[in-house]
Amino acid sequence: MNVPDRPHAPQHAYLFADPAAHSLSPQMHRAAFAHAGIDGGYTARRVGAAGLPEAVAGLRQPGVLGANLSLPHKESVPALLDDLTPAARAIGAVNTVIHSGGRLRGDNTDAPGLLAALADADAPTGGLSVVLGAGGAARAAVYALRQTGHDVLVVNRTHARAQALAAELGGRAAWPETAPWSAVTLLVNASSAGLDAPDDSPLPTFPRLDRRALVYDMVYRPAETRLLRDARAAGLRAENGLGMLAHQARLAFTAWTGVDVPVTVFLEALKAAEATGDPAP
Ligand SMILES: NC(=O)c1ccc[n+]([C@@H]2O[C@H](COP(=O)([O-])OP(=O)(O)OC[C@H]3O[C@@H](n4cnc5c(N)ncnc54)[C@H](OP(=O)(O)O)[C@@H]3O)[C@@H](O)[C@H]2O)c1
Repeated sequence: MNVPDRPHAPQHAYLFADPAAHSLSPQMHRAAFAHAGIDGGYTARRVGAAGLPEAVAGLRQPGVLGANLSLPHKESVPALLDDLTPAARAIGAVNTVIHSGGRLRGDNTDAPGLLAALADADAPTGGLSVVLGAGGAARAAVYALRQTGHDVLVVNRTHARAQALAAELGGRAAWPETAPWSAVTLLVNASSAGLDAPDDSPLPTFPRLDRRALVYDMVYRPAETRLLRDARAAGLRAENGLGMLAHQARLAFTAWTGVDVPVTVFLEALKAAEATGDPAP
């Protein structure tokens, strides 16, 4: 469902990011407003680091529901807010700001969004999980998996960052050459390897995992990364990050409006946007 922008809608939410034009969030949230019967609008704004304080201050106005934050603001925005959820505080990154009566609360819906996408994909719950990466997305993944009792190994190009992340959020750091791959039942790519690079993989030599393993790549552009191709060639189930993208948006929408719109509405909006190549404003 492609729903037009409502620039003067009485309720409004924003995305602040740099760049912002590639974002699929406007299509998802406009479809959700339409589905919920709410006269709402969603605008993606290109905001650089210098402009963030003023953009965030603007969220305190009546009628503003809040905002999503993407690169490069997820880790710098907490200092501009009144309050953080426990998840956002532990992860150290905010992707959703919720406005209420002039106060701004920061949340992180990437973490529960990943868990919801893994549940949809029927991910194995026991066994060993590996998270690839050590940036904000990896922090959300390790936090989420640790909260749900997973045994987590962190593997990152810069090993010292994997060690620091594991020391802070739980789990252990591992080297790709020596990780106990055959015991791994869940592999989550939270690195940006493969993003807009169909031949780039965070694991150029794909390891032999447990045969029940699910490979989940947070990257969704391209829809089939080299990691996903390698996993499928090894006979494993593999999913890209569109499900997580839809779920993190659904959770943000519920936090703003109190309405739980089915994830299928967000997924259909993503499919429609991908099919038309429709860029966000
Ligand atoms: N599906 C979703 O809803 C969703 C949500 C959030 C994020 N994401 C995706 O998750 C990815 C990571 O986001 P982020 O915010 O965590 O980024 P980030 O903070 O910039 O971290 C990037 C991580 O990727 C690693 N990396 C980059 N290029 C690599 C390569 N060629 N080979 C191996 N490792 C590489 C970096 O390693 P070093 O430490 O060595 O630099 C770093 O650990 C992005 O692709 C983003 O689009 C998806």
